[in-house]
Amino acid sequence: MIIKPARRLSGRCHLPGDKSISHRAALIAALANGTSHLSNFSTSQDCVATLACLEALGIAIERQGNRIKIEGRGLHSFRQQAAPLDCGNSGTTMRLLAGMLAAQDFSTILTGDDSLNQRPMKRIIEPLEEMGARILSLDGRPPLQITGSKTLRPIGYELPVSSAQVKSCVLLAGLHADGRTEVTERHGLTRDHTERMLQWFRAPIEFGSNSDKNELRSCSVTGPASFSATDVRVPGDFSAAAFFIAAAALLDKSEVEIQGVGLNPTRTQFLDTLRALGEQIEVGPKRDESNEPVGTISVTGSSLRQHAEKELALTISGPLSAALIDELPLLAVVGTQLPAGLMIRDARELRLKETDRIAATAQNLKAMGAAVEEFEDGLRVVGAASLKGATLKSSGDHRIAMAFSVAALLADGESEITGSECVAVSFPNFFEVLESLVER
Ligand code: S3P
Repeated sequence: MIIKPARRLSGRCHLPGDKSISHRAALIAALANGTSHLSNFSTSQDCVATLACLEALGIAIERQGNRIKIEGRGLHSFRQQAAPLDCGNSGTTMRLLAGMLAAQDFSTILTGDDSLNQRPMKRIIEPLEEMGARILSLDGRPPLQITGSKTLRPIGYELPVSSAQVKSCVLLAGLHADGRTEVTERHGLTRDHTERMLQWFRAPIEFGSNSDKNELRSCSVTGPASFSATDVRVPGDFSAAAFFIAAAALLDKSEVEIQGVGLNPTRTQFLDTLRALGEQIEVGPKRDESNEPVGTISVTGSSLRQHAEKELALTISGPLSAALIDELPLLAVVGTQLPAGLMIRDARELRLKETDRIAATAQNLKAMGAAVEEFEDGLRVVGAASLKGATLKSSGDHRIAMAFSVAALLADGESEITGSECVAVSFPNFFEVLESLVER
């Protein structure tokens, strides 16, 4: 994809359904009793992988564009599948589905593409084995052979890494266990879509009274659970919106309105961060859709470059890094435009995503002429950089491709994003939406 520099962004858009929420809606609907209708379901390849795995396990699914009908038949309705289930590029598919397969009295093999088959799975293998499943892996990486147990043990589990996927895996397994499974997060709260979706389906989930705002949060499910189907409307994907919010914030006189976006506070730290830098971002009236807050985001680009504090290097570390996990490559691009630059630490997890996002971000920023220092757990970007057009590598990672499409809009001269088709992993029509908003 060739991207030319832009003068500003202007217009309105509607984004595809949230990827994280769509996975959960489909998986939980498959465990419910009855027919669930899901609307504004994500068009991402990742969510297609989740639907295909559920179909392979015998769940009846009808799809019409972004409308999905799922026939759930309760907890033990999966049929054994001899062929490996292909989770594609999707860590969420593999880790969440593993929690459900841990409770089936048969073996299933989960595999993925070259990127997913390099990603760490010990984090789910350990709790699921503690619950009674047996899991073979290639030294902690996929393919996984999961031999489930119909009599899973409930556990109390404190997350050793900040990961919504691990938390969700244990909760979904816990729905099948005999008793109460509790998960506690201590270091950096992660997205809570599984908890909200279980509540929406009236599944037996409870929230710990010991939750202190930013320190500790726990919740528990009680199994074996039985709950009824319900309809879900999936909010627009905030992580997709972030690319347009950043581009509008960085291009003077931009005016962008993004409608129907998910505003779950565990996802919107990016808004707070830009606001703290002086950016004007309005959030329209919030409404609730299927137990998730939703609203319109309006950004009036008054050039973040001029507004931002002159002296202060923006530092993202500790729990903030977990809260911004999917937005960090994009934030690094923003950092090149801040007067005093940006420092990201405590973000080791970024090296374990669809690609090593620290290395990929540093490499592309350097190709554009920015000064970057790489650390094991983050990077430092020198501010006030003039970016020049360059050949930018997606490394097959959708968020790298989209973050550097935004960088390319700011550059002097055109850029090429190689392997740009990977945007389909989360946002198939990203480039069309971007072009519809760009003015040159
Ligand atoms: C996701 C959780 C995060 C995030 C990923 C989606 C989810 O991963 O990076 O894009 O849907 O639960 P981790 O759980 O590995 O942090």
